[in-house]
Amino acid sequence: MTKRLDNKIAIITGGAQGIGFRTAERFAEEGATVVLWDVNTERGTQAVEKLTQKGFRAEFHRVNVAQHADVQAAAKAVFEKHGSIDILVNNAGITRDATLAKMTPEQWQQVIDINLTGVFNCAQAVSQYMAERGYGRILNASSVVGLYGNFGQTNYVAAKAGLIGMTQVWAKELGKKGITVNAVAPGFIATDMLETVPEKVLDGIRAKTPLGRLGSADDIANAYLFLASDEAAFITGTVLSVDGGVVL
Ligand SMILES: NC(=O)c1ccc[n+]([C@@H]2O[C@H](COP(=O)([O-])OP(=O)(O)OC[C@H]3O[C@@H](n4cnc5c(N)ncnc54)[C@H](O)[C@@H]3O)[C@@H](O)[C@H]2O)c1
Repeated sequence: MTKRLDNKIAIITGGAQGIGFRTAERFAEEGATVVLWDVNTERGTQAVEKLTQKGFRAEFHRVNVAQHADVQAAAKAVFEKHGSIDILVNNAGITRDATLAKMTPEQWQQVIDINLTGVFNCAQAVSQYMAERGYGRILNASSVVGLYGNFGQTNYVAAKAGLIGMTQVWAKELGKKGITVNAVAPGFIATDMLETVPEKVLDGIRAKTPLGRLGSADDIANAYLFLASDEAAFITGTVLSVDGGVVL
């Protein structure tokens, strides 16, 4: 039986855990070979063990998406080994929350370096190989807060809103080369990233979400899967909100 991502090579940044790991697993279930780029070697290695034990093709490379030269070298290595890079999920991300009054220049810069420059680095490195073969899917992890703002997240929101702009630019620049570029804007998803959010705040989010719960990594992985599949061949430059209606 053919699967939705048969013979596809997919790079997932931040794939060692959370949404990135579940996305890697969903892609692998649909026939893709998944390459996890992450800074967490221990988790990355464990993630690949879990995937290979299930019979999937998966590999881990220690890559810091904020490092331009490392990303270039890592993309070259994947292309030379596999002969194509079909899908890139720019999922790696961090938070360093503080109000505008209290945010340090270091907190600002760390988040911009990883969540915004990291997306630029990976898209630039990988799109040249996609263009060579006339096919590609680039998926960027935005956020509900990139569309609507959030208290205490100047740095994170700047990055998540900025990458929506980059998504639109790249959709225009790369469309003729057979590459689609889209963003997913998750709502509040139950992963380690929410560990710093007080339970009281999470209860408030659940209460104001029409679907009455936080999202799961699966909810987001399925959106990436759709956008990576042939079913989404005519979709580019969009932001798909997967947020349970929390903003309504
Ligand atoms: N969890 C949420 O509620 C939520 C909501 C909206 C958007 N998002 C976005 O989805 C993405 C994944 O979120 P998550 O909740 O799974 O987070 P997570 O913290 O569970 O996982 C993030 C992964 O990124 C990796 N990473 C961090 N810095 C890196 C770097 N410089 N280079 C490579 N890898 C790096 C981490 O090691 C980790 O494995 C992020 O971009 C996040 O901003 C999450």
